[in-house]
Amino acid sequence: MYIVNTIAELKEKLNECRSRHESIGLVPTMGDLHAGHVSLVKRCVAENDVCVVSDFVNPTQFNDKNDLAAYPHKPESDAALLEKNGCTIVFMPSVEEMYPEPDTREFHFGALEQVMEGPYRPGHFNGVAQIVSKLFYAVEPDRAYFGEKDFQQIAIVRNMVAQLGLKLQIVSCPIIREADGLAMSSRNARLSAEERKTAAHISKYLFESRDMASSCPLSAVREYVIDHINTEPLFRLDYYDIVDGISLQPVQNWEDSPYAVGCIAVYCGNVRLIDNVVYKIDGKMVK
Ligand code: PAJ
Repeated sequence: MYIVNTIAELKEKLNECRSRHESIGLVPTMGDLHAGHVSLVKRCVAENDVCVVSDFVNPTQFNDKNDLAAYPHKPESDAALLEKNGCTIVFMPSVEEMYPEPDTREFHFGALEQVMEGPYRPGHFNGVAQIVSKLFYAVEPDRAYFGEKDFQQIAIVRNMVAQLGLKLQIVSCPIIREADGLAMSSRNARLSAEERKTAAHISKYLFESRDMASSCPLSAVREYVIDHINTEPLFRLDYYDIVDGISLQPVQNWEDSPYAVGCIAVYCGNVRLIDNVVYKIDGKMVK
């Protein structure tokens, strides 16, 4: 496995691969890797000749500077985990390397960024689009892998790829969870023992609501989740929306969309967690 820190070195290595007609997959990450990231890496390794993982805490996507300052950086343990899982090249650039000049580009995602995370994290998706587009230009991958945990991020990235006319495939990968159902996240380590126990109730209520969905109207399912989250003193709900999985616009009735996904953002203590559950896909209710 190669560890490279500059775009020039990265391109040099990738040009060698391309001259051998090898396919290239990219997994963008901000490091502090866990089993959720590893699932993307494994899929990338399985589907491509070359697996590039970027490990870069992107400052432009943090609307909260304290969140940026608290973000863990563990290059050595990340590299060891990546090597073990078959990664070919790890790209760990400095901020100066990725942003030699301030990135003044402004992306517009219309209705896709006016829902869910959008209003709560102004500028966040612009920052994601800035860094992901730079990574796509540097790597020119055939495929790039993203986790469904960040459901809105995938829709934004797909839209960006279409806007820029890039020729790569975006592959979405299922959410990896802890044994008690909590979606894996670097932020889980910030939870106290009591908060960590309570945090598992997010997915518990989502799964319970999915069990109800085939026999209850959408409004009752939404109410079930919101009411249960609100009964827990440690939780503070930002939003719970049941949306069309493509347009991300709220759905009022199950019949209104072939693909309905419930997306939640909730503070557990001071830690903001997100999760989602698919209720309906390909026109059929799940379960
Ligand atoms: P990061 O939070 O490090 O996540 C990197 C990738 O891992 C994302 O595609 C995310 O959805 C996926 N991921 C995280 N937790 C997961 C889980 N429990 N199950 C499955 N996939 C999971 O997302 C980012 O970084 C950044 O915004 C980035 C795209 C790298 C741009 O800076």
